[in-house]
Amino acid sequence: MGIRISKLVKIYGSSTIVNQISFEVADGEFVTLLGPSGCGKTTTLRCIAGLERADGGTIEIDGAVVSDGSLGIHAGTHERNLGMVFQSYAIWPHMTVAQNVAFPLQVRGSTRNDAIDEAVRWALDVVGLGALSQRHPSELSGGQQQRVALARAIVGKPKVLLFDEPLSNLDARLRDRTRAEISRIQKELAIPAVYVTHDQGEALSMSDRVIVMSGGVTVEEGSPRDLYQRPRKRFTAEFIGAANFLAMTWDGQAWKTADGASLAIPGHSSAAPGETRQAVLRSEVLHVEAADAPVSAGYTALRGKVLGQQYMGPYTEYSIDVAGATIMAHSSAEFPVASPVHVTFRPQDIHLLAADA
Ligand SMILES: Nc1ncnc2c1ncn2[C@@H]1O[C@H](COP(=O)(O)OP(=O)(O)O)[C@@H](O)[C@H]1O
Ligand SMILES: [Mg+2]
Repeated sequence: MGIRISKLVKIYGSSTIVNQISFEVADGEFVTLLGPSGCGKTTTLRCIAGLERADGGTIEIDGAVVSDGSLGIHAGTHERNLGMVFQSYAIWPHMTVAQNVAFPLQVRGSTRNDAIDEAVRWALDVVGLGALSQRHPSELSGGQQQRVALARAIVGKPKVLLFDEPLSNLDARLRDRTRAEISRIQKELAIPAVYVTHDQGEALSMSDRVIVMSGGVTVEEGSPRDLYQRPRKRFTAEFIGAANFLAMTWDGQAWKTADGASLAIPGHSSAAPGETRQAVLRSEVLHVEAADAPVSAGYTALRGKVLGQQYMGPYTEYSIDVAGATIMAHSSAEFPVASPVHVTFRPQDIHLLAADA
């Protein structure tokens, strides 16, 4: 049944931190809240967890309303049957791995000891820590400690998994491994998950769907591929990966750059005459060619002038003036500053933002 959040509001003092956020997470789905620091991701997650009392809107988990601002419903965290993993592992140093994982079931009080032992064994097997159950946290690496936290989150067979930046205390190599591990476990258990991060790489690689947030509201949501390749909003294009923008105007027949070049933009065949929209071009789809070189078949070429260059080793990063906009592009060829060049790309690699971007 998953999770349904509808018009969630959270106010601190005179600030509305979460402002009418709505989204759903289907059964087994992995949904990420992605946005800059301070945009209200943790607050949203804490409302779902019941750690904060929402000021408005409703939260349903597995078909049951656990929070309703207007009806004054606010189920406690322990009544919501959640598994939570946070940035700080919050595991007890004086307890063994097995004791840490058993802890939530012991607090619940309703589970028999042999059933607890079996659940702990199962959870530790799922996260691959079966052999380390008698160790203390000080005898574990950071990644292993985070897996103890993960085992503790799943031991009670929760209906929902909540993650708040769980990888940010790990070094880069461990982060990649643990990220793959979290994805695997979530898919294996088929528990709906809400994952909070400011890291676009985590969001793109782990999620079925990403909800982009800014200033307490939802900017847009979609699959990682759609948000990266076909964002509606400028905020999304800028926040997820580096984007170049080019103003395009529909002259009644074609999309034109500010210096009059016509461009075919698949899927955007018309607009109101005179309407201007921003086109998005990702640096990695662009090639830089000498202005007098022939343009490869199937490519679109825009005239430009090199403004600056930075040698990066495998490639040189160029900033290029194209129709009054500064476009960043990579090339392994050498073009001196001020040289005339062509920036080329395939028509399917240019994308127009929405009119209300
Ligand atoms: N308990 C609180 N009291 C007052 N303001 C808070 C509280 N918790 C968070 N905030 C504020 O709410 C905003 C959003 O915080 P948070 O949800 O933690 O953002 P994020 O997780 O996206 O970085 C921030 O400006 C933060 O200072
Ligand atoms: Mg946060």
